[in-house]
Amino acid sequence: MDALKEELLSQVASAADLAALDEIRVTALGKKGRITGLMKELGALSAEEKKARGQALNALKDEIAAALDARKADLAAAYLAKKLEAERIDVTLPVRPQTEGRIHPISQTIDEIVAIFAEMGFTVADGPDIEDDFHNFTALNFPVGHPARDMHDTFYLPDAADGRKMLLRTHTSPVQVRTMLKKKPPIRVIIPGRTFRSDYDMTHTPMFHQVEGLVIDETTNMGHLKGCLIDFCRAFFDVDDLPLRFRPSFFPFTEPSAEVDIGCSRKGGELKLGNFGDWLEILGCGMVHPNVLEACGVDSTRYQGFAFGMGIERIAMLKYGIPDLRTFFEADLRWLKHYGFVPLDVPSLAHGLTR
Ligand code: DAH
Repeated sequence: MDALKEELLSQVASAADLAALDEIRVTALGKKGRITGLMKELGALSAEEKKARGQALNALKDEIAAALDARKADLAAAYLAKKLEAERIDVTLPVRPQTEGRIHPISQTIDEIVAIFAEMGFTVADGPDIEDDFHNFTALNFPVGHPARDMHDTFYLPDAADGRKMLLRTHTSPVQVRTMLKKKPPIRVIIPGRTFRSDYDMTHTPMFHQVEGLVIDETTNMGHLKGCLIDFCRAFFDVDDLPLRFRPSFFPFTEPSAEVDIGCSRKGGELKLGNFGDWLEILGCGMVHPNVLEACGVDSTRYQGFAFGMGIERIAMLKYGIPDLRTFFEADLRWLKHYGFVPLDVPSLAHGLTR
């Protein structure tokens, strides 16, 4: 028995892998194994011999089983270590620099806008491209017969089953309405999205993008509106002393309303942004009209705030020197290669917007 034990233990110790080890287990402890065979012979012995030899065989069996288990654990650990070593990756290596795909300037510009307003505590809201007349016009204080409702500008769709007049939203302002109907003040959201108007030339496409801003609480005033937009424009265009001019204007959904111009120069036919004495219009804004607050279930004697809206293509064209609006939507890969952005260049105020 001692000889058998030594033999089996040395076999176990030298088993090269899990398959070899299992073979050893079968030859020792399997149904026809050597220890099992010795156990079977016990029946022919006297009661006393049976007891002594039975105990010894059981001890042998336990010892071999324990050795098999220990070796199995060692082999499994070695196998795992080898596999991990073979599949090793260095997560600190730089990402392949030859990335082919490009981020469209519209997506990039939206990411930049979101990064700037997120720093000011705004969250992003959205709404449907297909709107009804109530959210797009009525709740925004557009009177019946207002020219913006005109068939010539607005893409109307067949009426909804419940009689609502349906259309493709002509601006992102209806999401102001949706936000106020859904959420109690304080509200601080920006709303980037697609908008649609029946128009097509160098500076108009039937689908374009806007970003809307809405801030509602008990104390927000025109000074906050100015500060917010000045900070945004200076960060977005990366011109620290960029002057902004707030010109009185009119929108049905704000009172007072203003249009905002940024400083520029057009000398020599080249457009430059900065404090050069000339002006370029870039957005509309104002204090939310009490009629709009009331239409959205907000108590206008307690709450007030501001809103603004601007064209995303327009500010992207200005920042990145893209001359023709229509090229944004031609899906020309050469254009995208030229004006697009590297995917890993994610804009943030901490790491820098794209320049
Ligand atoms: N909705 C306007 C448009 O499409 C833009 C706009 C102007 C939005 C003033 C606003 C605002 O929120 O206050 O021309």
